Amino acid sequence: MTVFVLLLVVAGACPPECRCDSRKRVYCNDRGLRSLPSGIPTDTQILYLQDNLLESSSSLNEGLLKLTELEALMIYKNRLTEIPSLRSDTLRTLRLNTNRISKISDDAFMKTPSLRELILDDNVLTTFGISSLSFRGLKKLSILSMNQNSFTEFPQELPESLSALYLAQNQISFISNRSTARLTNLTVLSLAENKLSDGSFEENTLKNLRQLKDLRLGHNFFSSMPPDLPRSLTELSLIANQIMTLKADSLKSFQSLRSLDIAHNRLQWCGSESIELGTLVEDALVCEAIKPNISVIENLASLQFSLSGKESPPMSNYELHYKELSSNVTNAVVINPEENLQLELSNGLWQFCILNNFLSSNLSIEDCSTISIGQPAPSTGQGGNASENNVGPEALMAIVIAVIAIVSIVVLVVFITCRRKQYSQMKYLSNTDHFYCPKRFSPNQTSTKAKTNAKELTLDASKEFAVTLMLRQPPEDNRFYKVDSNASDVYDTGYSGSSRQDSSLFI
Ligand SMILES: *[C@@H]1O[C@H](CO)[C@@H](O)[C@H](O)[C@H]1NC(C)=O
Ligand SMILES: *[C@@H]1O[C@H](CO)[C@@H](O)[C@H](O)[C@H]1NC(C)=O
Ligand SMILES: *[C@@H]1O[C@H](CO)[C@@H](O)[C@H](O)[C@H]1NC(C)=O
Ligand SMILES: *[C@@H]1O[C@H](CO)[C@@H](O)[C@H](O)[C@H]1NC(C)=O
Ligand SMILES: *[C@@H]1O[C@H](CO)[C@@H](O)[C@H](O)[C@H]1NC(C)=O
Ligand SMILES: *[C@@H]1O[C@H](CO)[C@@H](O)[C@H](O)[C@H]1NC(C)=O
Repeated sequence: MTVFVLLLVVAGACPPECRCDSRKRVYCNDRGLRSLPSGIPTDTQILYLQDNLLESSSSLNEGLLKLTELEALMIYKNRLTEIPSLRSDTLRTLRLNTNRISKISDDAFMKTPSLRELILDDNVLTTFGISSLSFRGLKKLSILSMNQNSFTEFPQELPESLSALYLAQNQISFISNRSTARLTNLTVLSLAENKLSDGSFEENTLKNLRQLKDLRLGHNFFSSMPPDLPRSLTELSLIANQIMTLKADSLKSFQSLRSLDIAHNRLQWCGSESIELGTLVEDALVCEAIKPNISVIENLASLQFSLSGKESPPMSNYELHYKELSSNVTNAVVINPEENLQLELSNGLWQFCILNNFLSSNLSIEDCSTISIGQPAPSTGQGGNASENNVGPEALMAIVIAVIAIVSIVVLVVFITCRRKQYSQMKYLSNTDHFYCPKRFSPNQTSTKAKTNAKELTLDASKEFAVTLMLRQPPEDNRFYKVDSNASDVYDTGYSGSSRQDSSLFI
């Protein structure tokens, strides 16, 4: 019997509580385990221990230290109070979220030098539970997620290699410039749902993050744009803050910024001043589109954008796109909303659209106007000459009026004649054989029938007009885009407690 057990162990047998597969993965998750099963093969590469009742203990540490070929350890949703001891040069992923970890010792990660992804969301870590040595040894750490903890300050001495750092749902109210000085590779930083306000950043704190592209500061207490934002930003979320004003120059230098979410703030410049916000759309913020005032003298069109006196929207880049309707060639000029523009145009029907490429690589049609140069406006929006075969609205109107008039006259004549006839019949009691009015054309019936006919004609005519008088299609309402923020998820969430999404982006 002992020989048999020994044989099993030598052959790399699987603990009876778990399932092992040929790819060196061991599944011990969701089993209500209170201690680490014994006999986990020492060459295990991925160990699933999530959703159990494991507590930190020396036996757990001893068991895990044997697994020197681990590449990933899933030990989330347990009852750990500290980082388990691990020794594996190949460990890349460590998921410890939803435990009760309150501190990280100075040597916690000294024997896992290849760790790339460390997930510590939904624990009880505090600023005092970590030291400047807690993360030493992690020279390759790329993703560090510590959402839903109890930090009051931004952690010091984080690994330089970090590219994404998630600290949403903490109590952070202060970030020193020293704590960000080394994070020059950071591209994603989430600080949503903290206690940050205008004075929370020391000088250059954000500027230090030279590669930062995605900064999430939603659900904090900023009343103005944070200072010293890095130029590299492409996405900035400030959703649900207290921002009341947005100065044009505060964003002007951010050439790469593609998405700015300032929904749910206290912006107060809508209404007639709303033009500033051209494309920054907030729920309660409906902003008017820019419509050029076009006046034409011979072949010279003067376009006025009626923006003068107002501050130019930040980062805006307006383009006027125009084309002769029947041709395929679209011309484009960048316009300065402060200045008028004059264009020499050939005869024809021209369409003008003002486009704003702010925040969107795709140009969106803001508004279009159609003007006619050197010829009367045609009856349809399709351009070209109104064909002789088609009945124009004026002609139709004339025909309808004529028909109504003729019918009315006929009815009147018949009516009068019949009345006379009847009158004379009554008067002279003449022979019914000579009765002039046929029964179906009795005076009363005649007038109603005629009325109905006229009504139908009128209705038909109005239908005609609704169609024929339509000079152009209403502008497409594609100014509002909703961007899915899921796209910003960096890693697969095989665990709960993910709270990195700030919310939808409204641009
Ligand atoms: C920063 O990122 C670059 C490119 O991904 C990488 O080569 C470099 O080693 C990283 N720096 C650190 C300190 O990890
Ligand atoms: C950090 O901030 C302090 C106070 O705001 C300032 O005096 C110091 O110059 C800053 N250091 C750097 C390196 O920006
Ligand atoms: C459009 O231009 C005309 C002529 O310059 C001017 O009278 C009119 O007030 C302008 N309308 C608007 C809305 O700017
Ligand atoms: C416009 O372009 C389409 C396809 O690109 C082509 O089929 C059509 O003939 C063009 N029309 C004119 C008026 O050039
Ligand atoms: C918008 O841009 C994306 C790629 O950036 C492209 O796939 C898509 O077709 C574009 N849409 C329009 C309407 O141009
Ligand atoms: C439209 O009218 C112009 C003159 O106004 C004429 O030169 C042209 O040939 C006409 N085109 C068509 C399609 O009838």
